[in-house]
Amino acid sequence: MGTLILFILFSALFAPATSANRTLSEGLSLSSENPEDVLTSPNGMFSAGFYSVGHNAYCFAIWFDSRPSRSQDRTVVWMANRDQPVNGRKSKLSLLRTGNLILTDTGEFTVWQTNTNSLYSLELHLYDTGNLVLRTLGGENLWESFHFPTDTLLPQQLLTSNTKLVSSRSQTNYSSGLYKLLFEIDNVLSLLYDGAEVPSIYWPDPRFHRGYNDGRFVYNSRRFAVLDSFGNFNSSDKFTFLSTDYGQLLHRRLTLDSDGNLRLYSWDEEGEIWVVSWQALQRPCFIPGVCGANGICSYVPGIGGKCSCLPGYKMIKHSDWSQGCEPELDLTFGKSKFDFLQVSHLRFYGNDYNTSYSYTLDQCKKLCLELADCKAFRYTFNTASGTSDCFPKILLINGERSPSFSGSFYLRVPKKDLSHLLSNANHAEEIGLNCSSEGPLPLYLKNRENGIVKFMLWFVCGLGGLEIVGIFLVWCLFVRTPKSSSADEQGHLLAITGFRKYTYSELKKATKGFTKEIGRGAGGIVCKGVLADNRVAAIKQLSEANQGEHVFLAEVNIIGRLNHMNLIEMWGYCAEGKRRILVTEYMEHGSLADNLSSSSLDWKKRFKIALGTAKGLSYLHEECLEWVLHCDVKPENIFLDSNYQPKVADFGLSKLQSRGEPNNPSFSRMRGTRGYMAPEWVFNLPITSKVDVYSYGIVVLEMVTGKDATKGVHDIDSGEQPQHKRLVSWVREKKNRAALTDSWLEEIIDPRLKGKYDVRKMETLIGVALQCVEEERDARPSMREVVEMLLAHENDFGP
Ligand SMILES: *[C@@H]1O[C@H](CO)[C@@H](O)[C@H](O)[C@H]1NC(C)=O
Ligand SMILES: *[C@@H]1O[C@H](CO)[C@@H](O)[C@H](O)[C@H]1NC(C)=O
Ligand SMILES: *[C@@H]1O[C@H](CO)[C@@H](O)[C@H](O)[C@H]1NC(C)=O
Ligand SMILES: *[C@@H]1O[C@H](CO)[C@@H](O)[C@H](O)[C@H]1NC(C)=O
Ligand SMILES: *[C@@H]1O[C@H](CO)[C@@H](O)[C@H](O)[C@H]1NC(C)=O
Repeated sequence: MGTLILFILFSALFAPATSANRTLSEGLSLSSENPEDVLTSPNGMFSAGFYSVGHNAYCFAIWFDSRPSRSQDRTVVWMANRDQPVNGRKSKLSLLRTGNLILTDTGEFTVWQTNTNSLYSLELHLYDTGNLVLRTLGGENLWESFHFPTDTLLPQQLLTSNTKLVSSRSQTNYSSGLYKLLFEIDNVLSLLYDGAEVPSIYWPDPRFHRGYNDGRFVYNSRRFAVLDSFGNFNSSDKFTFLSTDYGQLLHRRLTLDSDGNLRLYSWDEEGEIWVVSWQALQRPCFIPGVCGANGICSYVPGIGGKCSCLPGYKMIKHSDWSQGCEPELDLTFGKSKFDFLQVSHLRFYGNDYNTSYSYTLDQCKKLCLELADCKAFRYTFNTASGTSDCFPKILLINGERSPSFSGSFYLRVPKKDLSHLLSNANHAEEIGLNCSSEGPLPLYLKNRENGIVKFMLWFVCGLGGLEIVGIFLVWCLFVRTPKSSSADEQGHLLAITGFRKYTYSELKKATKGFTKEIGRGAGGIVCKGVLADNRVAAIKQLSEANQGEHVFLAEVNIIGRLNHMNLIEMWGYCAEGKRRILVTEYMEHGSLADNLSSSSLDWKKRFKIALGTAKGLSYLHEECLEWVLHCDVKPENIFLDSNYQPKVADFGLSKLQSRGEPNNPSFSRMRGTRGYMAPEWVFNLPITSKVDVYSYGIVVLEMVTGKDATKGVHDIDSGEQPQHKRLVSWVREKKNRAALTDSWLEEIIDPRLKGKYDVRKMETLIGVALQCVEEERDARPSMREVVEMLLAHENDFGP
């Protein structure tokens, strides 16, 4: 007993002397000149003091510090004077005897204060939670930093109707940036971009109109949101998510990063780094203004977003992409003669001067040249209307570059600079994409490395998290500014509301009561329909979609964003009661299966279809977060447009239909169609993107031989009994005998080609197809490799 008392006395006497200061008492100050002048939380994790933000510039800050000795590892979680740093000399944070806490620059000028006063003695104390509190000795709190967040919310810190998070300007500039997390007037927790004339909400996804089942609850005006230490986030609008590492008691922070993405970070003790355990937006390029005006965002799988400047433009401020790029050339209207630089795969959202439908390219150029404000235009062919449309742009913001964008982008440049820019652009191919050192967009999700199964597990665990991907809507965009709907804002909305929700009665009307059936498969029944805007659509009623509406919407929304010229475009969906319907574009030329059985496909078309299909699948596998497996690649699911450009349909159905199967978040039973299915399904091996590669190989063999893989092949060449063989082994045998007979190609190739084909390309195609159907999945190439192998021959077509 006595020793215990002695021990307590000893600790009380000596501990404060050996550790850093815990409290600041009245009449005392912390000085910017003395690096030892910091307050430290009892657990040693947080410190408060002067933090250097630039040359001789300091902010009073709270930082997280797992290793106090390594000051470069500090993570700032709060700042008092982020927009007005103080001088390194003679600046002080003082707790006055009146009860006011003030920050003075160079000894005199007050840059920040708490405006508190008290008759009682006060002290400033830093808690283990990271909360800096001004309290009376009796324990009453007068002021706390948790009530004035900057860009970070710590566990237990409440976000309320009076508070908001504001991002930093850039990774190195801590002053207030352009992105905000706050409760909008309709009580929905939202992310807002405040860098344009009209602020815009970009999360929850503005492309979704308010429905009656969208997840966010708008009637709770008692607004609050809070994160707990286990990784559960809970908001009064019923938005909630669990971090991927939910349950472990870790240090966490929810930070609105300078790139506009809201991320939950967990402290990894071993690696001593912060890892992302949840993030609001999966596609960094979707965030408005992320690369600034005249900047272009590209999505790089595994890395995140990358910013670059348009050709002829240069970055305004090093390491701050939000400021964008400025022209290097003289673009003054009326001064020089202009021409256009064509850049492919590029798109700028919104800010259209006027959309002019049915324009020729020359008309569009003329229109842009006549407008003083026209900086560029987008020119696209609309397959639905059959017209080419012209979109002159008066502001170039929200630029995104993706191999999936069709149509062309024409940038107005001085005529005399055109050839110079042209040679640069062609030379680099990826125009000016070399900016990794400055890219502000981090993306290092935990648990990504182990591929699809792990990702899907993650998907299920982090369901709450992924729901945000867009099942919720922003009505606030429409309701918040009903009067000030300027042209800019409408342009932005127009550009991003292509995908929508349909009511059952709308679709019933469009299909005349679901009578015009055009197909029927495992996925469900497909009907042809004409929508209210006269577009012809394929309308698919899913037969076994038994998952909840939220999950359905989350996934449909992701699928709806997969835009690629070789994928069928999804226009919308319907989810009412138990009904789950997808609305996609309709292809007049029918499926590859229809076309193979007629004689409409010559060799060039077949090669084009093989290449396009590979591109579409490659996009699914690699460009899109690496998780969309098709699982039912077959000629019935490949459609042809008027140019015989293939478009893959029914992608994502495997995901929509794998829900509701207990115990297994991935694939608990076989999918696909006999004849096209990879051996993994039969042997119950892990399902990876290589199952699609296998099916693709079979489809190519069918295209080459004209034979049906589901029926097998009757081989009569040996002069003996006709034999029934699988298509793959039949082709392999023929090829292996090539050494003996030169005519193996002729023996297998579809007679409908009448011998008209390019031998070298045909050999390549068959070789690729045979690699794709290897039994061993690691021996098969990836879809990207397939594209590369085929592309190597794309321009071989002679005169
Ligand atoms: C902090 O503690 C040191 C001794 O550990 C002391 O000299 C200094 O005055 C203290 N500073 C404040 C502001 O209390
Ligand atoms: C940080 O950004 C602000 C706003 O753009 C700017 O005024 C300030 O000069 C920047 N500070 C530094 C150190 O670059
Ligand atoms: C979220 O907050 C609501 C309202 O306070 C509460 O009823 C609910 O249990 C909370 N949910 C979780 C998962 O903490
Ligand atoms: C937009 O274009 C149409 C014709 O395409 C024209 O009638 C209309 O006046 C134009 N609007 C503006 C604002 O120029
Ligand atoms: C990209 O930049 C790095 C240095 O920042 C340079 O070493 C490299 O050569 C550049 N790559 C290209 C393709 O320009």
